[in-house]
Amino acid sequence: MSRSKRKDEHLLIASRAKPERADFTEISLVHDCLPEIDLGQISLETNYLGRTHRSPLFINAITGGTVLARAINASLAVVARQLSLPMAVGSQLVALKNPACRESFTVVREFNPHGQIWANIGSYATVEMALQAIEMVRADALQIHLNVAQELAMNDGECTFSGALERIKEIVQKVDVPVIVKEVGFGMAAEAVAKLTATGVKALDCGGRGGTDFLKIEAIRHGQVRPNQLKTWGIPSAISLIETLKTADSGSTEVFAGGGVWEATDLAKALVLGARAVGLAGMPLYYLMRKGHGALVRKLESVEKELKAIMLSIGAGSVRQLSEKPLVISGYTAEWLERRGFDPNHYARRSLTVSGEKHNDA
Ligand SMILES: Cc1cc2nc3c(=O)[nH]c(=O)nc-3n(C[C@H](O)[C@H](O)[C@H](O)COP(=O)(O)O)c2cc1C
Repeated sequence: MSRSKRKDEHLLIASRAKPERADFTEISLVHDCLPEIDLGQISLETNYLGRTHRSPLFINAITGGTVLARAINASLAVVARQLSLPMAVGSQLVALKNPACRESFTVVREFNPHGQIWANIGSYATVEMALQAIEMVRADALQIHLNVAQELAMNDGECTFSGALERIKEIVQKVDVPVIVKEVGFGMAAEAVAKLTATGVKALDCGGRGGTDFLKIEAIRHGQVRPNQLKTWGIPSAISLIETLKTADSGSTEVFAGGGVWEATDLAKALVLGARAVGLAGMPLYYLMRKGHGALVRKLESVEKELKAIMLSIGAGSVRQLSEKPLVISGYTAEWLERRGFDPNHYARRSLTVSGEKHNDA
């Protein structure tokens, strides 16, 4: 099976049905009946990777390497330019191995010459490969993906992962753009987060379980209903986000949410938890391939509009204020966090004043 054929199969299977949505139902926002702010005053502006961005959304890594991938990258680059959203290209390994594939990535600069473009490479990458990937798309940041479960599920997956942390550390030291380490839908746990933050990465995209499911995609590719092992695997997006936020040092490592987080209420919850930005992959791919360019732009605009309405409903005028608002975590999510030593209650008591005393948000 050629790498190109596999990439096209991923695109076609991933965009076949409406994208899955991560389960944030055990996380509740707290309505504010006295927001003291007007809808027109709400701003989505947010800071991360050393810049001010118009919105906390970004288009996450999807593709490159084939004719179909080129068309998708070109369209996504136009959407990213129209809405001023950062956009990551898919893994560039294919173009590092075969220069004929480069154009399917560089096309994003043709259609979005001045926008924020992020390069993408796996944890197998050497410093030299990382530099080439960055140079190829004149990238403003570099994503390094961790995709153990996906490689395991692929018949032709490359299951060599030793030395990844050391390579990431070296890349962080040698490249002159911010480095984001990301998962692809199986989540990050506190233990890995602690090791990754020690490398000096600028941001972690903890992309958890609940959205695009590569085990399902691989099972479909191999004609199975579901793989026998690893039937469901990974840390749910909400739990992974909280473990990552609680472990990463907020002063030095920014945390991005992802993995099925694309409806406005879930986005709002991720931002209240403390995410700086939210990556979307399956949703933009589905809208683009099934409904077209205009429908994707309208969908993203409507998500941003709904997000503003939710911000008003909880009394937050800005993304920074969102991260100070309370939310209540219940059920399995709360139980998981408690058993892992993270206190779910502090979110519920943020900003709460009882008998004149403000609760500590520690
Ligand atoms: C068709 C497809 C291809 C992807 N290829 C890559 C890739 O090359 N590199 C990468 O880091 N992530 C890749 N991803 C993962 C996404 O960037 C994202 O982390 C993951 O899909 C979870 O987000 P979602 O639920 O919004 O799709 C891909 C996702 C899809 C749907």
